[in-house]
Amino acid sequence: MNKFFLNLGSQPLANNYLNKYFKKQIKYNLKLYFNNRTNLVSISKRIPSKKMFNNKYPYKSSLSKTMQKSFLDLSFEIKKRFNPKFFLEIGSNDGTLIKNFPKNKTIAIEPCSNLAKITKKRGYKTYSEFWDNKLVNKLLKKHNKVDLIYSANTLTHISNLDDVFSSINRLLCDEGILIIEDPSLLECIKKVSYDQFYNEHIYVFSALSVQNILKKFNLEIFDIKNLNTHGGSLRYYIKKKKNNKFKIHKSVKQQLKIEIKFGLDKLSTYRKFAKLTLKSKTKLLSLLKNLKISGKKIIGYGATAKATTVLNYCKIDDNYIDYFLDTTPDKANKFMPGKKIKILKYKKRLLTNVDYIFLGAWNFKKEIFIKEKKFIKNGGKFITHVPSPRILLK
Ligand code: SAH
Ligand code: TMP
Repeated sequence: MNKFFLNLGSQPLANNYLNKYFKKQIKYNLKLYFNNRTNLVSISKRIPSKKMFNNKYPYKSSLSKTMQKSFLDLSFEIKKRFNPKFFLEIGSNDGTLIKNFPKNKTIAIEPCSNLAKITKKRGYKTYSEFWDNKLVNKLLKKHNKVDLIYSANTLTHISNLDDVFSSINRLLCDEGILIIEDPSLLECIKKVSYDQFYNEHIYVFSALSVQNILKKFNLEIFDIKNLNTHGGSLRYYIKKKKNNKFKIHKSVKQQLKIEIKFGLDKLSTYRKFAKLTLKSKTKLLSLLKNLKISGKKIIGYGATAKATTVLNYCKIDDNYIDYFLDTTPDKANKFMPGKKIKILKYKKRLLTNVDYIFLGAWNFKKEIFIKEKKFIKNGGKFITHVPSPRILLK
């Protein structure tokens, strides 16, 4: 049974960066639910995928050094540990991971044509389509079954999980491995990072919920890794139950135990999270207000989908934040979704006279701090809302 626990208010499409600011933008109510049978946490309103993932999707994995490195390391691990004959990636984006694999042994699935174009150009077999059983019908006519399917930060964007996993099961050979990685619900709840929820993120997975979903399809997790990416992610290594080649690693039991100990299987945990989220909003607003009263200039850094949730939930506008800086070319000179805050293409000189930077991309804090050594040395300070709103001293 789905139990409501948090209302994040009226939210625009998180990656819908508009050239002009319109007061009246289409917004959707963002409400969060916990399923006490499957332990799955989801948002209620489902927006058709085609509205969000089209020929103008702005997010590019390659723009982060952290993701580049994480994917390079993973490619080494996959080759060494599993040595796949054929590798398929769901949600390949601009090819940041797949470029580390040989062209003749890979298939990329990326519905956004502006991104699919990039891997196609590089010579990678790319299907610019949504992952579903229909696509798998087509793939099975043209290719053999594959022995490694990988998907990062994508399956949580697809509403019909039964279709996702049944189609994966059909394309994966009996000895095949499925690896998925997504933000960890445990880390999200611990860090009060309510901004992990936006209309693209239909689900935030936990090991508990993934285990439950997989049962239906005779799939099981045999290893789990905790990652630092996206504010704390889990990488799940999955196999068919009948495949005895891989033993179930103790990491699986450990993760499930930690999640149960924290209470991810209880509605009361999510109700507490909702209270902390409300507190976080009040604290962030009072922090920004006080800085503005004392005449400080505040800007945003990283025009993320996460920041869209924060700005719209907390009702933060250009009276607090002058502009956002972002390295993504497709976000430059546009407005933060739902808010009259302009995004400027990142240039170091746009940091002069800035007193405080609100970290929209708090998950890349380490990378950004290294890049902005001079700003910090000159007395500039960062603001984060994770795990609770504060000015960062280091
Ligand atoms: N895997 C990359 C990109 C994550 S962003 C990374 O981890 O950095 C999510 C990606 O999933 C986008 O590129 C989006 O176009 C893609 N996507 C969304 N819905 C999809 C679907 N139904 N099938 C395949 N890909 C999808
Ligand atoms: P994400 O948190 O959804 O991955 O998005 C990160 C965003 O932050 C993306 O728009 C790129 C931007 N960014 C910068 O502008 N500068 C940086 O140094 C980093 C790491 C990210």
